[in-house]
Amino acid sequence: MLDQPAGGPSAAPIEPSGPERRPFEYRPVSAHASGVSTGRLVTRILLVIFLFSLLCGAGGFFVVLRQRALEAAAEKARLLLSTAHAVSDYTDERVFPLLDALPSDQFYDQIVPFHVVQAIFRKVQAENPAYSYREPALNPTNLNDRPTPFEVELTNRFRADPSLKDLHGIREEAGHDLFYRAEPIRVSSAECLVCHSHPDRAPKAMVARYGPVNGFGWSMGEIVGVQVLSIPVTEELRGTSELAVILAGGLVLVFLLTYITLMASLRVMLVRPLQALARAADVASRTSAPRADLQHSGVREINTLAAAIRRLRISLQKALALANARSPDPQ
Ligand code: HEC
Repeated sequence: MLDQPAGGPSAAPIEPSGPERRPFEYRPVSAHASGVSTGRLVTRILLVIFLFSLLCGAGGFFVVLRQRALEAAAEKARLLLSTAHAVSDYTDERVFPLLDALPSDQFYDQIVPFHVVQAIFRKVQAENPAYSYREPALNPTNLNDRPTPFEVELTNRFRADPSLKDLHGIREEAGHDLFYRAEPIRVSSAECLVCHSHPDRAPKAMVARYGPVNGFGWSMGEIVGVQVLSIPVTEELRGTSELAVILAGGLVLVFLLTYITLMASLRVMLVRPLQALARAADVASRTSAPRADLQHSGVREINTLAAAIRRLRISLQKALALANARSPDPQ
């Protein structure tokens, strides 16, 4: 029973007994180890980190920059619209009352706030062609104020939801990106209806000039049109995309450099020494040659491992020599 290994009778005996009993032997180890290689593993990890950084870095950068560009455009639009309101209020308070002083056969469009604001912005537009300001109405007095399909859509949205204070966003026109801000025009006082309800109520000179068909039939509280200010943002948005692309390019470059350096150092310091160690250990496990080449190279942990294997082999050789010396001759 002394030959029997611990673990019960079911466990396989280490040393076969009987006539086939022979000294310890090395069994060949398969050279084809399974599992992913270090290089592939590191490549996969780096790729995941890279894609994540690219998405969060360049993507996040793009979103933040675009948001900033739009906020700057919105602020500019707000300022220009408040200028428009100021001009309109001034005309309403200081110029419009002069209508009463006019002879009944005379009418000047310079007293109409909606005309004055648009006329002033047309001058602004002459110097800054991409900017525009319009006050179109669904049924306009002046046919130049006929709405475009986009302006009709905006007006209808305000009419559908009277609680809406303003609408803004980006739209494209003739290859340009424009930031627009729109506010509803409401018939807010009975005064409007003097000129916009029925031709009979309107000043005769005005009807003579604009005709009895357009710009009438409006009712109190009705949203009749929109004020739309458009400012160009093509350059700003393009600048945002360019900066994001530059950042993405920089990230790609840094990752490429990191990847190449890391893979080269890994190959020299870890993979090759490990392969050499594996070969040496494999050779040592197959032969009883006293000298198997276990090199001193690579990182500290590998050198420690090589030293440990070296010691292990020496101990193993001693143990084997002892075991073989003790084992009786099978014959
Ligand atoms: C004295 C008459 C008069 C009064 C009062 C008046 N308007 Fe007008 N309105 C006009 C004329 C004339 C035009 C066309 C001006 C032009 O040639 O651009 C006009 C233009 C407009 C426009 C631009 C679209 C279009 O019809 O061509 C809007 C919007 C408008 N008025 C709304 C109002 C509102 C709202 C009020 C009241 C707060 C008002 N108006 C009061 C005479 C008047």
